[in-house]
Amino acid sequence: MYTFEIDAAAPKAELYTELARTADALTGSEDDAVANMANIAALLWEYLPDVNWTGFYRVVDGELVLGPFQGKAACIRIPFGKGVCGTAAQSGETQLVADVHAFPGHIACDVISASELVVPVQLNGTVIAVIDLDSPTLNRFDAEDAKGIEILAKIIADRI
Ligand code: SME
Repeated sequence: MYTFEIDAAAPKAELYTELARTADALTGSEDDAVANMANIAALLWEYLPDVNWTGFYRVVDGELVLGPFQGKAACIRIPFGKGVCGTAAQSGETQLVADVHAFPGHIACDVISASELVVPVQLNGTVIAVIDLDSPTLNRFDAEDAKGIEILAKIIADRI
């Protein structure tokens, strides 16, 4: 059993430092990609307040395919360039979306999602997956969240 002391009142930077430390410890000696993505999705779900979906889409044969996640069942395949996830995968750049309804082509997997953060996971310069976070609150994510998830993506890139 894994239990974590999560101080919800801690500054965001501390929360992400702790999340990264825990994720590193959980995945560092395991080379099964599915197990590692499943645990990261669960950690994100447990650590981050005010989220309704946390998880992965993996690049498989040139498109994004749903990976381990927490939250409601989601759309399975997303072409590169489509939606927030496909835009992140195609551009290789983090997508910080304050209002998903204002994002052209946003793919609504859960109607309550209002804002979204998608961070590409790159290995040797190639996008291999994206980490997707959804929130029911508008403007839930900021640059500190993006930085925290980008650091996490680097830590786990060769473990998923
Ligand atoms: N909203 C995403 C689709 C994935 S779900 O949020 C889990 C998008 O527009 O790519």
